[in-house]
Amino acid sequence: MINTTINPINLNNQTDLTIQPPASGLSLRGSLSIPGDKSISHRALMLGALAQGETRIQGLLLGEDVISTAECLRALGAEISELTASEILVKGRGLGQFQEPIDVLNTGNSGTTMRLILGILAAQNNCFFTLTGDRSLRSRPMSRVIKPLTQMGAKIWARQNNNLAPLAIKGTQLNPIHYHSPVASAQVKSCILLAGLMTAGNTTVTEPALSRDHSERMLKAFGAELKTDPETNSVTITGGNSLQGQSVIVPGDISSASFWLVAASVVPDSELTLKNVGINSTRTGILDVLFKMGAQIKIENERIVAGEPIADLLVSSSGLQGCEIAGELTLRAIDEIPIIVVAAAFAQGTTLIKDAAELRVKECDRLSVMATQLSGMGAKITEYPDGLEIQGGYPLSGAEVESHDDHRIAMSLAVAALQASGTTIIKEATAANISYPNFFESLQQVCDS
Ligand code: S3P
Repeated sequence: MINTTINPINLNNQTDLTIQPPASGLSLRGSLSIPGDKSISHRALMLGALAQGETRIQGLLLGEDVISTAECLRALGAEISELTASEILVKGRGLGQFQEPIDVLNTGNSGTTMRLILGILAAQNNCFFTLTGDRSLRSRPMSRVIKPLTQMGAKIWARQNNNLAPLAIKGTQLNPIHYHSPVASAQVKSCILLAGLMTAGNTTVTEPALSRDHSERMLKAFGAELKTDPETNSVTITGGNSLQGQSVIVPGDISSASFWLVAASVVPDSELTLKNVGINSTRTGILDVLFKMGAQIKIENERIVAGEPIADLLVSSSGLQGCEIAGELTLRAIDEIPIIVVAAAFAQGTTLIKDAAELRVKECDRLSVMATQLSGMGAKITEYPDGLEIQGGYPLSGAEVESHDDHRIAMSLAVAALQASGTTIIKEATAANISYPNFFESLQQVCDS
C-alpha cells in the first residue's frame, strides 16, 4: 500500500494509495515541472523511427504508454537509445523499411500506440504483424481505424466483427482515400495520415470538429507534404515524401497539469506554478472550463518551442461555480473530464457535462466510473448517456474507491481525497504511471512545502 497521510507519503511496491488530509486541512504550494506531453511523445518516437537520419527528443514522457510505443518500434527495427536519458536518440529506418517482428507487438494500455501504429503497419508492404494490448485496450473499439484503412485496401483481421484486438495485419500497398470520420478523434485522423504518408497520391481526412493537431504540426516539421483546411476541418497528406530526422522538444502535458490546476483551485490557501506546459489551442479546453468556473489562473511566459505553444501556469485557490460544458469545449477537454467532475463536485451550483459519450470507450467507462466513485464519497451526480450532471458543494468524505486501473481516474480521485474528510483508499492508484510517473511524489512535495 502507498500509505500517505499526505505527510509522510510512503511508496512501496503495492498498488493502493491512502490519503488522509490533516483535520486542520492542508494547502498546496510550490513549483512543478510537468512531465512531457503523452500525445507528442508517441508521435516524436514514431516519426523519428519513420524518418531518415537521427531524431533527438528532449523531455520525452517516460510513462508506461510511451514505453510501449518505444518497445514496439524497437521490435520493428528502429534504434532508440535508453529511455532514462534526458535526451533520447532515435535512428530512423525510412518509410516502408520496418522489419517484420518475430513476435506479437504489445501496446499495453495505450490506445494511441495501437491505433497510430496500425496505420503504419497496414502500409508496410509484404510484412505480417500481430498487435495486442492489455485487458482494457482489448475491449476498446478498433473498427474506427480498421474501417478507413480497409477502404484504403488494408488487410486487417480482428475479433468481434473486426473491432477488437488482438489484430493481425498483412501490410500491403494502399490507395489514397478521402475519409469523412464520424468521430472527432486525433487517433483516427493520425492513423489515416500515417497510412497516407506511405501511400502514393493525396489522402484526406475530414473530421466533424478539429481534434488535437499534434500529428499535423509534427509531420510538417519532419518534411511531409501536408495541407490543412480549417474551414472544413480537413487535412490532406501527399504520400511518398520521405521524412528527415529532427530535434523535438516535448512540452509539459496540459492533461497532467490539469490535476494541479484543479487541486490548487479547490484546496484553500494554495498556490502552484506549473512550468513549461503545452497550450496548443486544441488542448486548452481545461483552461476555458476552469475560467468559466471562476478559477484564478495566470498564463505567463508564453512562447513557441519546436512548433508548439507553451507557457507557465500560476494557479491559486478560488471559489468555483458550476457551468455547462458541451460541444467543441468537451472535445478540447476530452481527457480532463474526470478531473473536471472533481472540480464540479467542489463548485457551488450545478455543472452539466454534455457530448462526452466518447468517455465511455476510454481506458474505462470514465462517465460511469467517476459518477460511481465520487458518489461513494458523497457527491451528487446524475449520469446521462452522453454526460453527467453534478450538484456541487456537498461535502465529500473519505472512502475506499476504485481507479479501475485507469491513470486519469486514479489521479482525479486523489485530488478529491485532498478535500475530503477522513481517509480515502484508492485501489490500483499506481495506474498513474501510465501518463504521470511520480505523480504521488509530486503531490507529497507540494503538500509538504
Ligand atoms: C490522443 C487522442 C485522444 C485522447 C488520447 C490521446 C492522441 O483520443 O483521448 O488520450 O494522442 O491522439 P481520441 O483521438 O480517440 O479522442
